[in-house]
Amino acid sequence: MNKSKVIHTLLTVVWLAAAAISLQAGLEYYTLPLHDRAYSDLHEWFKPSGLVGHGLGILGSLMMIVGVAMYSVRKRVRRYEHAGALGTWLSVHIFLCTLGPYFVLLHTAFRFGGIISIAFWSMVAVVLSGVFGRYIYVRIPKSANGQFLSENALLARQKHLLHSIIEYHDVDQAGVTALLTEMDPNLTSKAEPSRWTAWIPKRKGLSRQKRILTSFTKARGWSGSDAVLFRQRMLDYGNLLRQSSFSDVFQRLFGYWHVFHLPLAIILLVILVFHVGVAFTFGYFWIS
Ligand code: HEM
Ligand code: HEM
Repeated sequence: MNKSKVIHTLLTVVWLAAAAISLQAGLEYYTLPLHDRAYSDLHEWFKPSGLVGHGLGILGSLMMIVGVAMYSVRKRVRRYEHAGALGTWLSVHIFLCTLGPYFVLLHTAFRFGGIISIAFWSMVAVVLSGVFGRYIYVRIPKSANGQFLSENALLARQKHLLHSIIEYHDVDQAGVTALLTEMDPNLTSKAEPSRWTAWIPKRKGLSRQKRILTSFTKARGWSGSDAVLFRQRMLDYGNLLRQSSFSDVFQRLFGYWHVFHLPLAIILLVILVFHVGVAFTFGYFWIS
């Protein structure tokens, strides 16, 4: 497993464990009918201003704030350019900005009223829009540092990769084109490929492409690292072609998406500040 896979798995395990433990702790309270809650011994703990309930609101909000701040800083401040891959930081953003809202949900004890419910629903909308945004984001070709590649940079990459394939393996350009057509006719057709094929999850068809490549290398009698390298280069080349035919569409979509994700996050923050102000004014200091 490579490093980013390890981090990803670790975050997933921690997420699930934290979510399960925190839900289990208050489940008895959350499932009480609303009018019975105030009479329960658990009320003092799990109500939104209770020790656990209030604590979860603070923790969840801090997680969201940290999750946004650290990603923005890593992305924008040159000094931190080399502090880990941007994709890993995005995973941390997603970890903090999904577990945080989950804790806030427990903080509300599943009761939303008043102006703060606007913050709650913007939070839900930001999370959902985030899921959609990530779906687009992973389909835009990026440099190792996470910058979107321009059309020219993409073409240069394609040329470079094609050059290595022809140089290091015993195929010519026509052979590469024929093999690509077999892997996915969309890749080499002159006609504009159907835009919708780009929405098909990346993995779909991958095993078929691998099978075609394996039988190609076998038929040629290639084996060992040569064959592995060839198959990987062909897959990369195919991906690059696929990405570049949709790159502009996705980059535009992603531009629109930013215009949506960000203001919702700001609405959330503004109302949160107001909500915390009100809580303070009413003398709720969590531990006092
Ligand atoms: C995005 C973050 C947050 C959301 C969406 C949120 C949402 C809510 C909701 C829906 C309620 C229940 C209102 C009701 O019972 O009708 C509530 C209550 C409360 N929240 Fe939050 N909350 C958030 C963060 C915080 C934070 C950071 C604090 C404290 C610093 C806090 C302190 C409180 C307190 C003290 C109450 C109880 C108020 C009362 O019983 O009158 N909340 N919150
Ligand atoms: C309450 C939850 C969330 C808040 C407040 C939030 C807020 C933000 C903000 C302010 C940015 C802009 C950062 C920047 O460009 O500097 C951002 C970027 C992003 N967020 Fe979230 N987010 C949340 C949840 C999520 C979730 C759940 C996902 C995915 C599942 C997600 C995916 C993304 C992606 C893909 C970007 C764009 C990365 C880029 O442009 O480089 N977000 N988020």
